[in-house]
Amino acid sequence: MFESIPESKPDAILQLMEAFRADTRPNKLDLGVGVYKDAHGNTPIMAAVKKAEKKLLETQDTKSYVGPIGSRPFCAAMINQVFGAEAQSDRIRCAQSNGGTGALRILADLLKASRPDAAIWVSDPTWPNHIPVITAAGLEMKTYPYYDTDRCAVDFDGLMGALASAREGDIVLLHGCCHNPTGADLNLEQWGKIADLCATKSLFPFIDLAYQGFADGLEQDAAPTRLFAERLPELVVAASCSKNLGLYRERTGAALLVAQDSDKADKALGKLGVVIRSNYSMPPDHGANTSNLVLSDDALNEEWRTELESMRQRMVRLRKSFAESMRKRSNSDRFDYIVDQKGMFSRLPLNPAQIDTLRDEHAIYIVGDGRINVAGLPEEGMDELAEAIAGVL
Ligand SMILES: Cc1ncc(COP(=O)(O)O)c(C=O)c1O
Repeated sequence: MFESIPESKPDAILQLMEAFRADTRPNKLDLGVGVYKDAHGNTPIMAAVKKAEKKLLETQDTKSYVGPIGSRPFCAAMINQVFGAEAQSDRIRCAQSNGGTGALRILADLLKASRPDAAIWVSDPTWPNHIPVITAAGLEMKTYPYYDTDRCAVDFDGLMGALASAREGDIVLLHGCCHNPTGADLNLEQWGKIADLCATKSLFPFIDLAYQGFADGLEQDAAPTRLFAERLPELVVAASCSKNLGLYRERTGAALLVAQDSDKADKALGKLGVVIRSNYSMPPDHGANTSNLVLSDDALNEEWRTELESMRQRMVRLRKSFAESMRKRSNSDRFDYIVDQKGMFSRLPLNPAQIDTLRDEHAIYIVGDGRINVAGLPEEGMDELAEAIAGVL
């Protein structure tokens, strides 16, 4: 049986993680893997999450099945977090998912079942895992230009031009904030123009919201999604608790849908339940229950928001300090764009040979497309890092 299986291509980022682990040089620096890191290079459990877990352990009195949709209180909390005041509307539904990736997959399955002939338009570049997750659901994938590598900014004209050629009923996948891998986000005015295009061409928006709270703040980062929910009859959102609650391995996320009315929302949620049941029956409970405690308990919520905000501000500071060092070491302002970009990632204009040299000669690990994890930048030693990068350039 298995001898007929062709060799699988390993995930480039996971391979990079392995190589970093095996590197024994004491000064090694990991700018590759996409997890938040503190000043010591650790990815700690957030204080409010730790307290919620303790409370959960003390109070939970059963491990009985919950059901395909998962925890209803968690779903209600996620609807509030993502949609704010719009959450009052009776046309929004939520199913707990296996992380943001799980939400992407079950929503892609739902859209494939609803509109088998629709193509899904994905930004070029995008998070590499979008491609296998979406194509595994059987949706035809097309790309729209997203990033102008000369200006290191969003190629908005290219994006609008490509989407103008989409067929009625096609799906558009958009990064809700903190575009991965570029860090170049759309502004609210541009989001408004895309919403108008979706309305006039009957395109279906699919928002991937994996980093709410990492760009400009929890509320601000949800603004594009809320604007879409106000203006458009239907959309879906894949939200992740991996980054903003630091629950990576607990596989916690939410598949959210906005329908034309309450009946259609119920029908869509019903189908989503069937998709979940036939895939993995029901989602894991621990992360969702923990998140629900953090999101719904006033004291824990306050503590979590403060910690999340300090993580965000740390990344903003690191962006500034890195851009300053690059300005000094490269004798140019070509890296100033890093300050304006959002979230955990930016891309450096490095080719694969330069990336290899940084790894081999300086123990600096960067993903092959030049993406760096801003949270991994060193608070001490920024000038040395900038010098190494300027050196290979
Ligand atoms: C753009 C984007 N979407 C979705 C995810 C999914 O995250 P998870 O499945 O770990 O919640 C990630 C994680 O890196 C991401 O970068």
